Amino acid sequence: GIEQKVTSLLAKMTLEEKIGQMNQYNGFWDVTGPMPSSGDAAKKYEHLKKGYVGSMLNVRGVKEVKAVQKIAVEETRLGIPLIIGFDVIHGYETLSPIPLAEASSWDLEAIKKSAEVAAKEAAAAGINWTFAPMVDISRDARWGRVMEGAGEDPFLGSKIAVARVEGFQGDDLSSSETIAACAKHWAGYGFSESGRDYNTVDVGTSTLNNIIFPPFKAAADAGVKTFMNSFNELNGIPATGNAFLQRDILKGKWNYDGFVVSDWGSINEMMAHGFAEDKKAAAKLAVTAGSDMDMESYAYVDELANLVSEGQVDEALIDDAVKRILRVKFELGLFDDPYKYCDSETEKEVIGSKEINDAVLDVAKKSIVLLKNENQILPLKKSGQNIALIGALAADKTSPLGSWRIAAKDSTAISVLEGMQQYSENKLMYAKGADLVYGETTFAKELNINISDKSEFSEAVSVAKSADVVVMVLGEHGFQSGEARSRTNLDLPGVQQELLEAVFSVNKNIVLVLNNGRPLAITWADKHIPAIVEAWQLGTQSGHAIAQVLYGDYNPSGKLPMSFPRHVGQVPIYYNYKNTGRPVIPAPNEVFWSHYTDESNKPLYPFGHGLSYTTFSYSNLQIEKVNEDEVEVSVDVKNTGDVQGKEVVQLYIRDLVASITRPVKELKGFELIALNPYEKRTVKFILTKNELGFFDNSGVFVFESGDFKVFVGGSSETVLEQDFEL
Ligand code: IFM
Repeated sequence: GIEQKVTSLLAKMTLEEKIGQMNQYNGFWDVTGPMPSSGDAAKKYEHLKKGYVGSMLNVRGVKEVKAVQKIAVEETRLGIPLIIGFDVIHGYETLSPIPLAEASSWDLEAIKKSAEVAAKEAAAAGINWTFAPMVDISRDARWGRVMEGAGEDPFLGSKIAVARVEGFQGDDLSSSETIAACAKHWAGYGFSESGRDYNTVDVGTSTLNNIIFPPFKAAADAGVKTFMNSFNELNGIPATGNAFLQRDILKGKWNYDGFVVSDWGSINEMMAHGFAEDKKAAAKLAVTAGSDMDMESYAYVDELANLVSEGQVDEALIDDAVKRILRVKFELGLFDDPYKYCDSETEKEVIGSKEINDAVLDVAKKSIVLLKNENQILPLKKSGQNIALIGALAADKTSPLGSWRIAAKDSTAISVLEGMQQYSENKLMYAKGADLVYGETTFAKELNINISDKSEFSEAVSVAKSADVVVMVLGEHGFQSGEARSRTNLDLPGVQQELLEAVFSVNKNIVLVLNNGRPLAITWADKHIPAIVEAWQLGTQSGHAIAQVLYGDYNPSGKLPMSFPRHVGQVPIYYNYKNTGRPVIPAPNEVFWSHYTDESNKPLYPFGHGLSYTTFSYSNLQIEKVNEDEVEVSVDVKNTGDVQGKEVVQLYIRDLVASITRPVKELKGFELIALNPYEKRTVKFILTKNELGFFDNSGVFVFESGDFKVFVGGSSETVLEQDFEL
């Protein structure tokens, strides 16, 4: 078996070769061109030839991957193949919606399929390992990387983590259409203070165990082959050098047998953190704490051999790390055929294929959330209407691709303008109105984009005046969220709010389509604009998906995976908050309760919110004790309108009194159902001690019997509730 092969290969390896497996380099030269003779690239090339490199990232395309693999396989003493990593976050070249958008579908099959086609396309380009899924829970929309996760809830996040891992890895990792996945960032990255990327993380044990860890545990249980640690410190210890996280929890308590890769340069960053005095100390701390592979710090390759020969690091730690890495390489089948992902015919056939485009369109439609629809302004009629389409994003073919799209080419998304032209015979008048910019900020400078002014407002206002309906596509640029794209403000960037108000002053019949990578505080729009569609950044097929929803060819079914604040000052805002000792106003005009003086505590749109072109009613909530350990909850859900629609039936619980206070609501079940007009269905959930228990502050899962509440409905602001005892 594989274990035997790993052990016998390990026995043949020198210490340097072992350390080489733990070393990962970024693509460093055009490997199909001349070999580098100086500088960093030359050093990497030398190391590659000696077998001192176990993995490379950002080498892509069959030609390139084959060339580096050939060096590893043919020029090194043992010929151990490289594992080729890449950020296949929401696709390779053909893009699905950003992960936060996909999470809005609550459709685990569609999410799994999206990861499956992403794996297939990446594998066809030589990749065999993705740095995804990011399973960091986050409650802070200022953090740019919320776009890459599944939102604020650990239950939903865990289900989605599993779907993504299963999608990428499939049933057979040795197939040339599946790739190894990576649960990242272990751990706490989504809780960076003030939403600023890479910032300090200081969280208590209850949040760690009950909110942050569960999606990682779910990914580990689903067999995710690798973990990536994170840039942040967690309670004073950088994650990369954090033995509690990597040794005690992951490899100890959870008995995880995959390997942990550092984040880019994160071993060296322990010096800046003030945790390691030099690179050698950093290497020692990282390997001791359980980081198995060094991404781009050169710390292991430069320091580990000395640390071992000086007796500072036990070679058994190196052996353990190398075994973990080799195991995954064997499982991928790289030893049987190192070039199995390197077939140029397959590459041509698979990349951009119809199958992949169909899957990404499917999940894109399902990711759209109808936030508001007054007077049934949506769906739009397909003919006989004059439609004004306004906003720079409406014609943009790049921004909808979103962030993390290294292999996707600019201008390859279907724009809303293109999509709408294809789906109707209406007269469509387009006006940009304003550039999509953010004023004189580092963001505008980095991306070298125009600073907006209001000179084009008048054209937008004039097309709006003569239109029956105005569709405005506003929001964020695709690169305004993502890594290192934190914001202090959650408004519509630039002058878009002013543009919206200017258009509104001449035509109130507006459908606002949002393109954004995070929740936005669109409180004015919610008050004034009759219809609001959250379309996130939907990837390659964006414009088709949006047009299908606007014209009613697809009845929207998405639900928010993150609360939308009324104001940025409410952040972090999340539905599963604690009650506090002063949750409600005790008497009129009382001051001393937990609230703001200038804004409500409530979100603008709660977690789980999302409308449909039909309506659903909930009734007959029943709870029945099945046995000492479980109850069955059932509820009748009816489609009360005259079009077919899908609803995510959500179940929440509250443990009323516990030895550690519990949130006011916790999602513990959901089911996506399709109902024909006036059809009624009974939906059932089973609640066991697994759903009703929680982790105590020593990380032990406990169930405490007593009184619970159950809530059921179409959002976290549920409609039905009932008490029970277990
Ligand atoms: O996978 C990423 C990670 O999420 C952030 N730093 C760089 C890695 C590799 O690109």
